[in-house]
Amino acid sequence: MSDAPKLTTTAGAPVADNQNALTAGARGPVLMQDYQLLEKLAHQNRERIPERVVHAKGWGAYGTLTITHDITQYTKAAPFSEVGKKTEMFARFSTVAGELGAADAERDVRGFALKFYTEQGNWDLVGNNTPVFFVRDPYKFPDFIHTQKRHPKTNMRSATAMWDFWSLSPESLHQVTILMSDRGLPVGVRNINGYGSHTYSFINARNERFWVKFHFKTMQGHKHWTNAEAAEVVGRTRESTQDDLFRAIERGDLPKWKVQVQIMPETDAEKTSYNPFDLTKVWPHGDYPPMDVAILELNRNPENYFAEVEQAAFSPSNIIPGIGFSPDKMLQARIFSYADAHRHRLGTHYEALPVNAPRCPMHHYHKDGQMRFFANNPNPDAYYEPNSFNGPVQSPEFAEPPLKISGDADRYDHREGNDDYGQPRALFNLFDDGQKSRLFSNIAEAMQGVPEFIVDRQLGHFEKVHPDYAAGVRDALAKMAK
Ligand code: NDP
Ligand code: HEM
Repeated sequence: MSDAPKLTTTAGAPVADNQNALTAGARGPVLMQDYQLLEKLAHQNRERIPERVVHAKGWGAYGTLTITHDITQYTKAAPFSEVGKKTEMFARFSTVAGELGAADAERDVRGFALKFYTEQGNWDLVGNNTPVFFVRDPYKFPDFIHTQKRHPKTNMRSATAMWDFWSLSPESLHQVTILMSDRGLPVGVRNINGYGSHTYSFINARNERFWVKFHFKTMQGHKHWTNAEAAEVVGRTRESTQDDLFRAIERGDLPKWKVQVQIMPETDAEKTSYNPFDLTKVWPHGDYPPMDVAILELNRNPENYFAEVEQAAFSPSNIIPGIGFSPDKMLQARIFSYADAHRHRLGTHYEALPVNAPRCPMHHYHKDGQMRFFANNPNPDAYYEPNSFNGPVQSPEFAEPPLKISGDADRYDHREGNDDYGQPRALFNLFDDGQKSRLFSNIAEAMQGVPEFIVDRQLGHFEKVHPDYAAGVRDALAKMAK
């Protein structure tokens, strides 16, 4: 007799036959009472959950954050409490626009989402492989994403929509330049940097606030594909990134990133020429030099892609004592958006799923709903608050210092008085001739089929970054027209 485990129904009853339906006669129809078949088909119908509305295609792995430098003068956050401290974490990387089955080797921003299981709760840093973003006001996010997804009538992606939106939104220039540069098409996620992108706050043990930006510098080196190379890769495999990351971890070639922070004293925010909470801007390294803090290493593949990667739920609202938000308008909107998406995509108590569950004691008064499979509070009589039965209570010692906010409540034009060209120029000036020439041809390729008046409007923006930028794209367009 085989020692394989016995197949059962989900209720635990043994299954006598998993090959042949229960029928009236050898050729007859299936009997309604074949409940095991009904269960099998019903489960299959429920195997898919809504894919993420953005960043649907992704790849994940577990890892460890190890602190290398003392930054306790800036933050009391648990992962940074001492040099040598290790914190377990989970990472999910992604493309933005493609659906769940999209090819990996596409020109797109890469998501860089990290969940640190700290002893004071989960800290999620949900960033990208770019330090900036396409828009700076959350009103523009759904519109921007609509231009990246499919046209409602043709069901095709639309270059016209993309360049129409970008050319009408000059704040996108910085990110568009990165997207169309070499770094817009990485060979895999081991070869990208990650950025927290937003400004966050650090709070130290004296309850002083600093502004902080997080950087994750790849230790595997940057590697990119040209459009032509990527087309060839996609022809061979649509899963190039999944394959690259999974195999590297299986063979023990563990990907690592050097973690750095830029720190800005709280009151500097009133003095910088640029708005330090503007997501379309970096803090120049010359002004705020990156400091080494830690090493991030990925070292374990998930056992079940659906359970651990597809059901992973990252949210910028997951902060811990010592790390806080900033006035960045985009960050403020994201604080709402992600947990809302998770309740829709996964269900009310999605944080009870193993990949999302904190690895520290957790006590709250949320009660029923989908996925209520966690235990009661230690005393079952303490199911409301306040109570007389020793239920969990608040901890005032974790209150953040007050944040000074001033100004009239109004809708301020975020384009007024904002230099959208200086930082893209600094980036353009970093590129060597080869990088510039690939930037021009990538843009020209991406503009194929776009009406001339939209191309002209965008060329006007390139011109304001640098005359060579506009001239280069014009030449590349002319060459392609031939
Ligand atoms: P620095 O010369 O000190 O920094 C340049 C940064 O640019 C480095 O972090 C480098 O990353 C990165 N970089 C190099 N090539 C590319 C590329 N093709 N695409 C995207 N990033 C690239 O200058 P500044 O701090 O004054 O910034 C100048 C410009 O560099 C900015 O306007 C911005 O576009 C870009 N940048 C700046 C960052 C910042 O936080 N200040 C972060 C990333 C980009 P690496 O070290 O990995 O090579
Ligand atoms: C995923 C909204 C801006 C990075 C998502 C999801 C939503 C969303 C709803 C799907 C979440 C899920 O179903 O689990 C928004 C809104 C934004 C915004 C409303 C602006 C107002 C940004 C920015 C970044 C970013 C600026 C990076 C700096 C990501 C990443 C994911 C994601 C990495 C995938 C997370 C994962 O791997 O599960 N976003 N987003 N987003 N977003 Fe955003």
